[in-house]
Amino acid sequence: MTCSPTKKKKLCRFNCCSVSNTPSALMNRIPDPAVPTHVAIIMDGNGRWAIGRGLGRIFGHRKGVEAVRRTVDAARESGVRYLTLFAFSSENWRRPADEVNGIMELIASFIERELDNYHRQNMRFQMIGERHGLGPKVLAALTRAEAQTRDNTGLHVVVAINYGARGELASAMRVLARKVAEGALDPDAIDETMVGEHLDTFGIPDPDLVIRTSGEQRLSNFMLWQAAYAELVFIPCNWPDFDRDMFFEALGEYARRNRRFGAVSSPQAALTDF
Ligand code: FPP
Repeated sequence: MTCSPTKKKKLCRFNCCSVSNTPSALMNRIPDPAVPTHVAIIMDGNGRWAIGRGLGRIFGHRKGVEAVRRTVDAARESGVRYLTLFAFSSENWRRPADEVNGIMELIASFIERELDNYHRQNMRFQMIGERHGLGPKVLAALTRAEAQTRDNTGLHVVVAINYGARGELASAMRVLARKVAEGALDPDAIDETMVGEHLDTFGIPDPDLVIRTSGEQRLSNFMLWQAAYAELVFIPCNWPDFDRDMFFEALGEYARRNRRFGAVSSPQAALTDF
């Protein structure tokens, strides 16, 4: 018996599904309502990228900065309104001092180098996380970037540094508890909106899509409250290899999902033809 030649299916960049469009063509076909308002990214795998090449971990972080640049450009191009990047967790202080200092240096110099350019492009910068404990250089760069871009209305880039969701929630609880103890707040008035207003992300819509690179499939103390209904996309490549096409593929995957928020259907359920 001879096999009849079959047309080989084109796989997506994650090699997990067949696709009929290139990511850029796919982006043109995603209807506006299916583009997420807020994409948050756990940029994982810098260390593995470097070690796999016989390099020190900091080389992976350096390469990771290039992926940050590509991703910011892709987010602007796609029409996403908010992009959150998890750059340094409150647990990352457990790493060797050289690596911690190297990451802080990379964040500070990235902001210093890109700030004027991003400001011209009407982008806004905001930091979430605990400022206490950050070094003066990175703190100065973040403070300047926030002040300079405060009134911008384009892509809103949120950088999570020294951030941990449990710490963020505990801090919100402390503020609310203090108000109750002072008699300024009735405990029965505490609802989900009020809790959200006491988080670092106050004013920022919840992420619609959380992307994590490196193949790990967990949230690692990232936006535990805010990501309650986020769609999760796990990408089996390390962060330094992440590119524009992968970003668009992730948006395509998001657009194919049917978000129900506990209900039974959503208008997005119809948007499956791409
Ligand atoms: C996770 O990979 C990555 C980090 C902890 C640091 C991320 C920092 C950057 C990409 C640099 C600059 C950031 C900005 C916003 C300019 P990992 O080291 O945990 O990788 P591993 O799991 O393979 O060890």
